[in-house]
Amino acid sequence: MPVNTTNSRFAVVTGSSSGIGLAVTSALLNQEVKVLAMSRKKGELEPLLSHYGEQLIWCQGDVTQAADLDKLAALAKQIGPVDYLVPNAGIAQLGDSLDAEAFNRQWAVNGAGALNTLAALRNQLASKASVVFIATFLSAITFPGLAAYIASKSALKAQARTLAVELAKAGIRINLVSPGPTATPIWGSLGLDETSLNSVATSVCQRLLTGQFLEASAVADAIVFLLSDAARGIYGQDLVVDAGFTLS
Ligand SMILES: NC(=O)c1ccc[n+]([C@@H]2O[C@H](COP(=O)([O-])OP(=O)(O)OC[C@H]3O[C@@H](n4cnc5c(N)ncnc54)[C@H](OP(=O)(O)O)[C@@H]3O)[C@@H](O)[C@H]2O)c1
Repeated sequence: MPVNTTNSRFAVVTGSSSGIGLAVTSALLNQEVKVLAMSRKKGELEPLLSHYGEQLIWCQGDVTQAADLDKLAALAKQIGPVDYLVPNAGIAQLGDSLDAEAFNRQWAVNGAGALNTLAALRNQLASKASVVFIATFLSAITFPGLAAYIASKSALKAQARTLAVELAKAGIRINLVSPGPTATPIWGSLGLDETSLNSVATSVCQRLLTGQFLEASAVADAIVFLLSDAARGIYGQDLVVDAGFTLS
């Protein structure tokens, strides 16, 4: 029996402990949406958990583990039908473009992890539900060392667009957001030393029309828009939120 007896909306967000997932969680909570958040660590969710009480539930889990996704689905079932789903968990690792293992590692989280999250939650979705997958601005360009990352996101995009057609009849509206360079911990996890990271950041900023990395909240606002009824006519689109990076 669902415990959500109010008219409030219910969202599931993965990769909620930092960056864009944290910002989406925060934006939804602000709009009185109940959120079930999943990540391996609590991370920066801690203050939100204290502040929002029962409106925010954290499920510790890894999107590459079927048992963890089953646990997430069981929790979602207890709370109520899922109106919004954001399979946002992602990793980015620099590597040799011919290293198939680099693709497998990143696909496991960015691609299979995201799709399996939807598969696990499919039976818990509301009769009208909205899903936003997270791709990348890099699919439109190149970035030496990130071929496997870009490929994992591009394959996810292909799957998501076809799923948007297949699942529309079931009341599930699917879209993607492709964030541009956004100030989150993912850049620090690429495996670059500080000097190289600073040099990449400088050249990236030169192509951004704002001259600076996006804030995670700017990407989150676009995700929340696509989730919302205001975007009810939008199916299978990839909204690029990149401060003009891919225009030049
Ligand atoms: N920042 C950018 O410039 C940018 C650009 C384009 C696309 N993106 C995409 O945006 C999404 C969010 O990334 P971000 O920039 O916000 O980076 P981030 O701050 O590093 O956040 C990544 C999130 O994913 C979680 N995560 C990683 N592996 C996981 C796993 N196996 N299971 C569950 N959770 C996992 C992390 O939490 P735990 O470590 O606690 O599990 C963290 O909460 C990703 O899909 C990324 O590819 C980011």
